[in-house]
Amino acid sequence: MSKIIAVSNQKGGVGKTTTTINLAASMAMADQRVLVVDMDPQGNLTSGLGQKSPTGATVYESLVGDAPLPILSTPVDGLSLVPAGRHLAGAEVELVPMERRERRLEALLSPIRARYDFILIDTPPSLGLLTLNALVAADTVLIPLHCEYFALEGLADLMATLARLRQALNPRLDVEGVVLTMFGERTNLSAQVAREIRQFFESKVFTTVIPRNVRLAEAPSHGLPVLLYDPRSKGADAYVALALELLNRNGGVRTTQAVSRP
Ligand SMILES: Nc1ncnc2c1ncn2[C@@H]1O[C@H](COP(=O)(O)OP(=O)(O)OP(=O)(O)O)[C@@H](O)[C@H]1O
Ligand SMILES: [Mg+2]
Repeated sequence: MSKIIAVSNQKGGVGKTTTTINLAASMAMADQRVLVVDMDPQGNLTSGLGQKSPTGATVYESLVGDAPLPILSTPVDGLSLVPAGRHLAGAEVELVPMERRERRLEALLSPIRARYDFILIDTPPSLGLLTLNALVAADTVLIPLHCEYFALEGLADLMATLARLRQALNPRLDVEGVVLTMFGERTNLSAQVAREIRQFFESKVFTTVIPRNVRLAEAPSHGLPVLLYDPRSKGADAYVALALELLNRNGGVRTTQAVSRP
């Protein structure tokens, strides 16, 4: 059974794209067949996996037209990418008059989902039609939260959106979990925010915490996940641990659950 996970938080810069790339790469290195889909016109997921400016088709042509999803290979075996470019921004408007406009991505993924164990969708920092398409296509939502003072701000909006979506468009949508990102090991603030988040979300919060690590910030400019850029970094360790925790939570993983490190 394949699982589709939308990585979402309408707050900007909380680690959605970093988490999508590195979690997906770690899962692929644990022998999972993984597809990542870039639904953000910023295209950070696409460039972070080595496609600086995709010249061929992107997710845009499929969403607003009839083209099948373009699927590219990446530097990681077992990890494939549906790229995005700047013109995807136009889809927010072009989708509006279209039939079943919230279900375009779901319809595009349904014929191919069986080929993958996991499909991760990176979303833009907004709750517009692109994010809506991701949340309608998804089985679960993974919420990265930046360990800073305003981490919980705006979360009520996201929770209300999820509740409305369950009623109207996607009754199966569940919360996969909350990931604490950019944790400052030496700051009291991070620890205090992490405590608050755990009180609020309880067991939904992953035990694994992603530390602030400069390697995670550098890797995308080399077009690589951190596991290939610096496999011995703390950032790589953290995302490998997160992948194993997620695979364990999902049970029934076929492999020994080892992540092969380069
Ligand atoms: N654990 C980390 N340690 C250090 N830097 C990080 C970490 N996680 C993310 N960053 C950096 O912080 C910035 C924001 O991260 P990222 O792009 O993943 O967030 P985002 O939620 O996808 O942003 P947006 O809302 O714009 O799509 C990036 O420059 C990224 O390289
Ligand atoms: Mg992003």
